[in-house]
Amino acid sequence: MDLVVNAVSHEVDSAPLTSLLEVLREELDITGPKAGCETGGCGACTVLIDGEPRRSCLTALCMAEGREVTTVEGLGTPEALSAVQQAFIHHYAAQCGFCTSGMIVASSAYVDRGGSPDTGAIQEALGGHYCRCTGYVKILDAVAAVARGDDADTMSTAASPTSSYVSIGGTGNGGGGAA
Ligand code: FES
Ligand code: FES
Repeated sequence: MDLVVNAVSHEVDSAPLTSLLEVLREELDITGPKAGCETGGCGACTVLIDGEPRRSCLTALCMAEGREVTTVEGLGTPEALSAVQQAFIHHYAAQCGFCTSGMIVASSAYVDRGGSPDTGAIQEALGGHYCRCTGYVKILDAVAAVARGDDADTMSTAASPTSSYVSIGGTGNGGGGAA
């Protein structure tokens, strides 16, 4: 079966109903998507399928065939990070990093479709992505900054305009697998 990931075509041996998450991590060694809950509830495994954020743990390999799969590795390079990747650094939006690839992937889809800097709108877009470290404040700041078109200096850390714990909660995006 052919699988296109980050614009590279791969011939994969996994069975058609293997989860996309397992294929990416175990067969292709693309480890940006993280195996968290593996039941659609945490967002750590999120990838883009034809530009839409989807839970790769709930997406069968056969549902991704013929589609464009993008992981956090495909959004930028170490030499040329994407705007969202730069903003996560500048706003100190990652601590342990386990949730970060899913957060960045979903945030990228949000800003790419013209998402606003409104906190409530970002919370809704990232609904169902859980972070155990940051308290979400810095993540929301980072996404809002990209939505505003702010430049991000990755050599410095921004002061946060928000000061208290917030939740992004919600029920999540794409829980049913590839659309
Ligand atoms: S691993 Fe938690 S939603 Fe997929
Ligand atoms: S940075 Fe640790 S879970 Fe989000």
